[in-house]
Amino acid sequence: MTIAIMSAMHEENASLVDSMHIRGESVTGSRTYYTGELCGRDVVVVFSHWGKVAAAITATTLICDFNVDEILFTGVAGAVDPRLNVGDIVVANDLYQHDMDVRPIIERHEIPLLGRAAISTSELQRLALVRACELFIEEDFTGMLGTDAAAFGISTPSVITSDVASGDLFVSDASVSGDIRERLPGVACLEMEGAAVAQVCESFDVPFSIVRTISDGANESSESDFQAFIDKVARQYSLGVVQRYLGSL
Ligand code: ADE
Repeated sequence: MTIAIMSAMHEENASLVDSMHIRGESVTGSRTYYTGELCGRDVVVVFSHWGKVAAAITATTLICDFNVDEILFTGVAGAVDPRLNVGDIVVANDLYQHDMDVRPIIERHEIPLLGRAAISTSELQRLALVRACELFIEEDFTGMLGTDAAAFGISTPSVITSDVASGDLFVSDASVSGDIRERLPGVACLEMEGAAVAQVCESFDVPFSIVRTISDGANESSESDFQAFIDKVARQYSLGVVQRYLGSL
């Protein structure tokens, strides 16, 4: 049983690579795939690269070349649900492509030839991931992040399960995020890869799950603290959640 861990950010990937026992390292399609062991599990760890096409290439390679049995995706996202704050965690339920639009041939957001817009994450993996996130917040978060999280105003992060929308767009305009939220009201946050990974995994019948830490509000201030948040906070969330997830299997 081999579990792939795809990270949206190079920094998250680096934390995972630093923590694993590396058995092999190979470059395919300009990505480096690290094979080895993490928390007693066989893993392949890779930086997905940004955007839907990049993520689809990485997920397909993991499945076809590395024969992984499952994909876990970690990354950050911009919140569109007003109840979410920076530092909260969203475990994805259904994934949508907010920029898929083949009207008037088919309905907006519907994926051509699939007959629907949403792709669901795998229930077993999703439930285990929620538990891993909760344990990370309850037991590891304070010691692991300390003052770094406080500097971003994060005190007690919440963990929610919700729909997530992906598109080839870093959303830094409240009117754009508001429009997406109106079209897809169940969506809690926006990112750039999850729905592509979902479509690949569904095509190959590989279970998958997706976790996103809220880094910004998908509005005009999205860019300001983004890199500092990745460096100081997001990379530690990913490592902590992945360790809890693998440890629970
Ligand atoms: N990932 C993190 N923040 C994002 C945003 N505002 N838009 C798209 N992807 C993101």
